[in-house]
Amino acid sequence: MVEKLKIIGGNALHGEVSISGAKNSVLKLMAAAILAKGETVIHNVPELTDVQIMLKVIEGLGVKTRYDKKSKSVAIDAADITSITAKYELVSKMRASFIVLGALVTRCKEAVVALPGGCAIGERRVDFHIKGLEALGADIKIENGYVHAKAPKLTGTDIYLDIPSVGATENLMLAAILAEGATRIQNAAQEPEIVDLANFLNAMGADVSGAGTSEIVINGVKQEDLHPIEYTTIPDRIEAGTYMAAIVATKGKGLIKNVLPSHLTFYNSKLIKMGANIKLIEPTVIEVSCNQRLNSVNIVTQPYPGFPTDLQSLAMAMLTTADGVSIITESLYENRFMQVPELRRMGADIHQERNHALVRGVKNLNGANVKASDLRAGASLIVAALMAEGESVIEALHHIDRGYELFETKFANLGANIVRYNDEDDISNSLNNHCQITKGNLNASI
Ligand code: EPU
Repeated sequence: MVEKLKIIGGNALHGEVSISGAKNSVLKLMAAAILAKGETVIHNVPELTDVQIMLKVIEGLGVKTRYDKKSKSVAIDAADITSITAKYELVSKMRASFIVLGALVTRCKEAVVALPGGCAIGERRVDFHIKGLEALGADIKIENGYVHAKAPKLTGTDIYLDIPSVGATENLMLAAILAEGATRIQNAAQEPEIVDLANFLNAMGADVSGAGTSEIVINGVKQEDLHPIEYTTIPDRIEAGTYMAAIVATKGKGLIKNVLPSHLTFYNSKLIKMGANIKLIEPTVIEVSCNQRLNSVNIVTQPYPGFPTDLQSLAMAMLTTADGVSIITESLYENRFMQVPELRRMGADIHQERNHALVRGVKNLNGANVKASDLRAGASLIVAALMAEGESVIEALHHIDRGYELFETKFANLGANIVRYNDEDDISNSLNNHCQITKGNLNASI
């Protein structure tokens, strides 16, 4: 059954939304949990398909896992690891699972992990991961699409990353935890998810300092120094930025709860330049509103603390109806403008030249049938559909389900006219009645 999303645009969003745990943090924490013998419990774990895939990857190593939907907690009991292999069938579904390489190689001295390959948004190489592991002393062979890593002994060293890669920084942090001596990762990624991982590892007994700066130092500890822990994941800054975009774009007003505003400093400054109002209500609650046509702004995506690439498509959706011309430059990925042809179908005026997009604001967007090509492009289509006049249908929701927990419920709670359905459902009257339908509860809600 093919699921689709139907949205009737034009409503200003009002209300409040609570942000879930950070997908891009929790996936790495789950891999890091296998470093300690015993049961680690991670809280604030969103119910996402990517989390399910990571659970399968970890279970494939012989590790016991338990996800409790009610408490949003995952228990990972890595007393024993009985397999050192992460199979292509899973790694190819979710690149982030490549992170188990660093954890396995340091704990089990050996790992066989499938190479993830490219994805819709770019080539996404893993050469820094491999070179860094080699520098730590791992013997690496690539055969039949798998990385075979052997490391009877890992020794701390200085590693310089050509690009502050998030995944490479994380993989190498994990590998260095049980290495002998000190590892210094220079030009390290500084994302909040890296800090979360370092905090998690330190709580477990590791010795990591400098996370959140460009130089991270890991002093190797012994296996017996690591112990299982209970830990709560940080909020998802990209999910927060997505709902903020939707509220601003529809000229609404809403509270974003369970957010860490310091993680969104650069993004917020651009929203304010666009004409949004952002108020800190409590340390983890912000109010966002907008009551004017947006101003055009220029945006260049950068590693943290710069403008996040994961919010670039959302900014583009907002700017499609801004006053004037905005130039958006995507500097991290080769192919992250997949939303452009779909936004054009909705009436946007966007000219793309390599990694630059010139967005000329139009008066309004019109509803259309569009298709998500990847997670963030999909999210931008939701925002565009909410802004547009008339009805839009968005296809390929599996991309969006990877990273946005209960998104149609959260949007509906903000007053969006949104429904998920499959081709067999009769939804003819549902939208006009403005009913709010949650996933898996379609008939009951109608
Ligand atoms: N790169 C290399 N070689 C490497 C590693 C990276 O050339 O060995 C390049 C990549 O090809 C890319 C750039 O460096 O062009 C940045 O990649 P990075 O390694 O930083 O990204 P990632 O770890 O693969 C994570 C997030 C992405 C987010 C980026 C950048 C996870 C699971 N994914 O990916 O999130 O865009 O950092 O912030 O943490 C998303 O959530 O939609 C998403 C794609």
